[in-house]
Amino acid sequence: MTASTVQVYPVIWNEDRVLLIDQNRLPTEYVLVEISRYEDMAVAIRTMIVRGAPAIGVAAAYGLYLGARDVQTQERDEFFAQLESIAQQLRQTRPTAVNLFWAISRMMRTAYESLGTVDEIKEILLNTAKRINAEDLQTCQAIGTHGLEALPQTPEKLTILTHCNAGALATAGYGTSLSVVRTAWHSGRLKRVYADETRPRLQGAKLTAWECVQEGIPVTLITDSMAAHCMKLGLIDAVIVGADRIASNGDTANKIGTYSLAIAAKAHNLPFFVAAPLSTVDFKLSDGSQIPIEERDPAEIYKIGETVICAAGTEFYNPAFDVTPAELITAILTEYGAVKPQELKDFQAKQIS
Ligand code: MRU
Repeated sequence: MTASTVQVYPVIWNEDRVLLIDQNRLPTEYVLVEISRYEDMAVAIRTMIVRGAPAIGVAAAYGLYLGARDVQTQERDEFFAQLESIAQQLRQTRPTAVNLFWAISRMMRTAYESLGTVDEIKEILLNTAKRINAEDLQTCQAIGTHGLEALPQTPEKLTILTHCNAGALATAGYGTSLSVVRTAWHSGRLKRVYADETRPRLQGAKLTAWECVQEGIPVTLITDSMAAHCMKLGLIDAVIVGADRIASNGDTANKIGTYSLAIAAKAHNLPFFVAAPLSTVDFKLSDGSQIPIEERDPAEIYKIGETVICAAGTEFYNPAFDVTPAELITAILTEYGAVKPQELKDFQAKQIS
């Protein structure tokens, strides 16, 4: 990492509580929200104060510890009964990003494996949450390094289109797709980022553009519907997006609008990359049709600010994610290197052997 890299950490452990950057208030206000109770962490995840698949995982891990800390019993079975209930409430916050479930499972497994006292298990839970946080940061940096190697060799300086926010704010720091962007920028291989605004919650406009501006990376904001037009004009060299859950055949769930971007990239013969840690692959799922897709409050689409933008009587459908079929994905950029989506299973076996 070069000295000019700006560090953004959306989830910070601070003595005895968690500080979250309130992502609903960026870019106009930079506010840290203090979280000391697991119930408040659940609300923060649901209301998207913290969002982005890996960041949700880190936040939920700390949330589980905060809940464990307040359990009063010293009796092991009773402690685990209460811990299971806390874990369940955290699992119910958002359904699509597998990182949430992965982080909670890892925390629970570590707790069950400990033969120590309840107080010792609580300490183990805090240390595991800190480890998940630190590992995600390293993973993101490795995604950037490997991702850079997978980018097209020409032109020398690339213009990369991205969707939603898969940046530092969506992870422990540094990002997945924006990690590749950052690494390319610091290696002299990036000309500019095009950021899709990302209807309806505008993560591209509010968060990705903010991150790029913080770091001095040239960024052009477009609306989602302008992406194919920009490709046709030759303004884009590659597309890189993040992922919320990848099925074992490589089908990838990411922010709504990703699928149409992949189709447009294919039509214009542009590489379409997904940048994600291997923990985002849900090997239990054979294909993308099994990925649960979150539907959010229709107010996200029928209002802009406080203004209702459609006639009374209109009906709504507001899926937060879509699934891009594996055949539209050039490669998945992981912390271990780039892999073709169809080769994920063998690739994972090689990493753990
Ligand atoms: O609804 P959000 O803002 O949590 O959705 C975020 C995304 O879709 C990201 O692209 C994804 O989580 C990857 S983050 C590294």
